Amino acid sequence: MYNPTRLHFGKGVVGKMPEILSGFGKKVLLVYGKGSVKKNGAYRDVVNQLVQAGTEIFEYSGIKPNPVIEDVDAAAQLGRDKKVNVIVAVGGGSVIDSAKAIAITIPVGHSGWDFFNGAQKPSRAIPLISVLTLAATGTEMNMFAVVQNDEAGQKNGYGHPLMYPTHSLLDPTYTLSVPKDHTAYGIADLMAHCLENYFGRADAPLTDRFIFSILREAVENGHKLLANLSDYELRARIMYAATVALNGTTAIGKGMGDWGVHSIGHHLSLLYGTPHGASLTIIYPAYLKVFKSEAAPAIERLGREVFGVIGMDETILKLEEFFASIGCPVRISESISSEYNEQALLNLLIRNKAGGNNFRLNAPRLEKLLELAR
Ligand code: NZQ
Ligand code: ZN
Repeated sequence: MYNPTRLHFGKGVVGKMPEILSGFGKKVLLVYGKGSVKKNGAYRDVVNQLVQAGTEIFEYSGIKPNPVIEDVDAAAQLGRDKKVNVIVAVGGGSVIDSAKAIAITIPVGHSGWDFFNGAQKPSRAIPLISVLTLAATGTEMNMFAVVQNDEAGQKNGYGHPLMYPTHSLLDPTYTLSVPKDHTAYGIADLMAHCLENYFGRADAPLTDRFIFSILREAVENGHKLLANLSDYELRARIMYAATVALNGTTAIGKGMGDWGVHSIGHHLSLLYGTPHGASLTIIYPAYLKVFKSEAAPAIERLGREVFGVIGMDETILKLEEFFASIGCPVRISESISSEYNEQALLNLLIRNKAGGNNFRLNAPRLEKLLELAR
């Protein structure tokens, strides 16, 4: 296991910025999204710190949810032109993922997409400091980024050890402004990260226990948080759970996990702009139904350990009910309306070889899955 990210957690941690920045140069590329950081105080606090540290700031804003490669390439061009020494990313997964891609694209002459399609490997990266404002993806403490390329018809994940943030600053205060839907999608996403690893090919009993603990933490606190979005303690618990769900802890010994649900979910985001967490809650119940026989003992154990129920169908139903109870869609029809084209989605899933590392999907299974998820 390798994880070099230094995690700073708690109220006011952004105050550590000048000390952290003293280890880097003075030119900062500040990356953020479409403006939420200007409403919740994160932008103001970070800029104050950057000014206090005597840095020169170059801004790239407007990163989209389900981020696109065009922004990565444009921001990398800015960073290259200005010869920035460090990137500071303020936002959710989309902003931080983009910043990771920008970090490895600045030193090269080609598009960042060449990393995501496997044509190139990075050999250098600009150091990245992340300030997380949305608990969900775990990107703050892992080496992965997910970027969309509409022209290629792909939303791909890529990971390289150079892409770990050097420091990540997590102040749960900044997540108090996350609206109900995205709070729920974040809880679903962190649970999905546990489940994707849980359903990996290899056997790792202690890791399974970590996974069950994180899932219970999410289930127990999820409802409470949605009933009280301004509760700092609950925000903090979910924020930390989301980090641990995908910082390596849940992956040890699990044989790379499965990740089939993410693979399919990314296609919903690509074609219909479905928010990431919502794409997962739509696919998970159908996915488990398709793989019921292969995954039987694991599904039953999940039910016993997390939901206190006996039986496979009961477990899948409980998971679905939980997602629905926090306000997430569990069927395609609840999230995507008239523009949905099942055949086009199926064709793209087949073309892009969507599927998991453990459970293998073929065309008939994909067809069945989409029918169950309708
Ligand atoms: O555009 P801004 O203003 O930043 O608004 C965002 C966006 O509209 C808003 N938001 C963020 N923080 C907020 C806030 N609104 C109010 N208050 C705050 N404090 O929320 C919306 C969603 O933001 P986004 O960053 O897209 O969400 P999330 O953190 O869920 O990230 C999703 C992206 O991460 C990828 C997903 O595929 C998706 O592209 N993932 C990255 C992973 C990784 N790097 O390890 C793993 C995940 O499985 C996932 O695939
Ligand atoms: Zn995810």
